[in-house]
Amino acid sequence: MAFTVAIDGPAAAGKGTISAAVARHFGFRHLDTGLLYRATGARVLNGQDAAEAARTLEPEDIQPTDLRTAEVSEAASRVAAIPEVRAALVAFQRRFARLGDGAVLDGRDIGTVICPEAEVKLFVTASARTRAARRHAELADGTSLEEVLADVERRDARDRGRVDSPLRPASDAVTIDTSTLSAEEAIARAIATIAPIWANR
Ligand code: C5P
Repeated sequence: MAFTVAIDGPAAAGKGTISAAVARHFGFRHLDTGLLYRATGARVLNGQDAAEAARTLEPEDIQPTDLRTAEVSEAASRVAAIPEVRAALVAFQRRFARLGDGAVLDGRDIGTVICPEAEVKLFVTASARTRAARRHAELADGTSLEEVLADVERRDARDRGRVDSPLRPASDAVTIDTSTLSAEEAIARAIATIAPIWANR
């Protein structure tokens, strides 16, 4: 049975960086579950019905090309509030979590809904302003910091406020606030949390 690490948190808190580094360190497979919602959102922007788009996703749809734009981010956050979309994506995520020796899944509801039995649950967060500043530096496309902050806050409110699988820490999650941490420090903290549990599995 695979060892599962669930990493949840709001947009641009550092989940992606931490998840990729943790997967490399322990030799686990990694699924960025946001890509499933982004790929569904991208198909909806092309005119497809949301539930139908989620039900018929193919592995090639979740290649990261073109899925990081602000337009796709917004579409992803909208489709993520539709219960039929979430239901269509559950089985794929659970299968991924239990194949092979170990898996890292990052998203919003991994520790609470997708893998409530995960051996390790991390909740990675940071202040909205810190997260917006990071996203702003990544985008470098002329969008103002205030616009990026407004986007981040709108997506957070939608993720936290939705009825189906809202963003929240699992009761047994370890929180890592990356507001004042470098990427290296945040990764070290995640690895230090996981290592003893992995060693005693
Ligand atoms: O993590 P990322 O920003 O790529 O996710 C895009 C959107 O997909 C999020 O704003 C969120 O609404 C949704 N999402 C979700 N549940 C997940 C992963 C992402 O609702 N497990």
